[in-house]
Amino acid sequence: MAEYETHDLDVVVIGAGGAGLRAAIEASAQGARTGLVCKSLLGKAHTVMAEGGIAASLGNVYPDDNWKVHFRDTMRGGKFLNNWRMAQIHAQESPERVLELEEWGALFDRTPDGRILQRDFGGHRFARLAHVGDRTGLEMIRTLQHHSVHQGIEVFMECTITRLLITDGHVAGALGYWRESGRFVIFRCKAAILATGGVGKAYKVTTNSWEGTGDGHALALWAGADLIDMEFLQFHPTGMVWPPSVRGLLVTESVRGDGGALRNSEGRRFMFDYIPELYRAETADTEEEADRWYTDRTSARRTPDLLPRDEVARAINTEVKAGRGSPHGGVFLDIASRRDPDYIKRRLPSMYHQFKELADVDITAEPMEIGPTCHYFMGGVRVEADTAASTVPGLYAAGETAGGMHGANRLGGNSLSDLLVFGRRAGLAAAQHALGRPRAAEIDAAQVEAATTHALAPFGREEGENPYAIQQDLQDCMQRLVGIIRREDELKEAQQELAALKERAKRVKVEGHRQYNPGWHLALDLDALLTLSECLTMGALQRTESRGGHTRDDYPKADDELGKVNMVIRRREDELSIEAEPLSQMPDDLKALLEDPH
Ligand code: FUM
Repeated sequence: MAEYETHDLDVVVIGAGGAGLRAAIEASAQGARTGLVCKSLLGKAHTVMAEGGIAASLGNVYPDDNWKVHFRDTMRGGKFLNNWRMAQIHAQESPERVLELEEWGALFDRTPDGRILQRDFGGHRFARLAHVGDRTGLEMIRTLQHHSVHQGIEVFMECTITRLLITDGHVAGALGYWRESGRFVIFRCKAAILATGGVGKAYKVTTNSWEGTGDGHALALWAGADLIDMEFLQFHPTGMVWPPSVRGLLVTESVRGDGGALRNSEGRRFMFDYIPELYRAETADTEEEADRWYTDRTSARRTPDLLPRDEVARAINTEVKAGRGSPHGGVFLDIASRRDPDYIKRRLPSMYHQFKELADVDITAEPMEIGPTCHYFMGGVRVEADTAASTVPGLYAAGETAGGMHGANRLGGNSLSDLLVFGRRAGLAAAQHALGRPRAAEIDAAQVEAATTHALAPFGREEGENPYAIQQDLQDCMQRLVGIIRREDELKEAQQELAALKERAKRVKVEGHRQYNPGWHLALDLDALLTLSECLTMGALQRTESRGGHTRDDYPKADDELGKVNMVIRRREDELSIEAEPLSQMPDDLKALLEDPH
């Protein structure tokens, strides 16, 4: 093992978005020697794509807001499949995490009397999102990064982890490679935290950038941990659709939170046609009423433009399929006719510049063209709610990499609060676990050899497949067959295509050498992308109902029995299995909140 560069740590945090940064801050504050490994440069994270805000019941704009209402909203948004304990902790602790962020220097927008301003988002009963214009995720990352550099955390940039090293069933380390030199590196540790975000790059149209290849989910699965509810995938309703080079780029929900309305090609505000029963009582059913809610709140019933994301994405999909879409295959999002230009530029500066510079559209004067884009995985590593511990000793997961918190559908704004709340808890528990162990387990040389041999194999092949062609075909398959609306025959077709892609990936070949070789990096990313696409498709086939971010054309209704189970995926002896396992029982006092949170 002497030939490998090795770093000795108590806790290694894999992924440096909001969850990873918050976890590292906490682990280090507990006195653990903490390393933070990022695939790209520190600060470049999908967290910045949560632009609109952090959901937390501070009650600054609506004093009636409190954790109980937030808990209820989250459970309803998740179609009651959420891990109730995670939803409870999240609702209770997010205000504290936001205030802490402010103490650490985050510059939130303010109410006239100087408190943190909160904005409306889909599925939240009250205006609840603490925000910084439409750049909240960016401000969060800036603040956490700034705070972390004073904590003595060791930061390892441009390093991809390819395998967790497990000894006697416990995490012993992580094996990775430097993207620049291609050389391998080992992080020996007593605990590891996975916080690598989601798997958006399995899809053609996504808000995710190149890092979103599901590394953490796959590392956990390969290490023997359980994944849950992988079928639940969030298509954010509003991504750019034009020009093609930016298709999928996020258009923040804040546009609708701040007054924007969705319209089809006939100019109709079509969301009034898609109000589901669960939200009927509290949703305005005329434009006039919806606009009174927006302006002076003389109606308490919210606009249907701000229904939860699963509902809005499905509605847009239906409108486009019915031939009522915009010229480039989306629908229109109009704030220009509803708010004055100064307001739009002040509240949505990034959106203004994004459309002006990338699409030559002035959003203060004309509507945007938007459509659904793959944004977020609700499924993920099964964790223990209080500690973020996975089912493998010494392994933790937080943020998008962890499953359970959001059930079948996440509410906008709940990811930034999730990653603060559970990033902190993961850091705390991992540090306590690590500090309680006298030494890290020995690294198993055979595991390292097997992993490095596998990683270098694409260089040794005389003939083989180009990794870019495989990824393109994978994205095409997932977009076409495992998208917003699913059917058994299409899911089975996807399984066949994925099996063929896996065979092709075994023959992947890269040219050149190990120094900064993006083709090789992608060849390695394919392992995770393909594994997780398989898990997603498996879950989608098994869940014969429609719920949240999983819609089956052949099973259009929710099934009460399936609403009581998680789909648990495991990998043993190289084989994946899936099993429905019951959700834990929610205590009666929390159940009562679902009816009446006050
Ligand atoms: O629309 C948005 O600003 C995204 C927020 C989120 O995903 O939470």
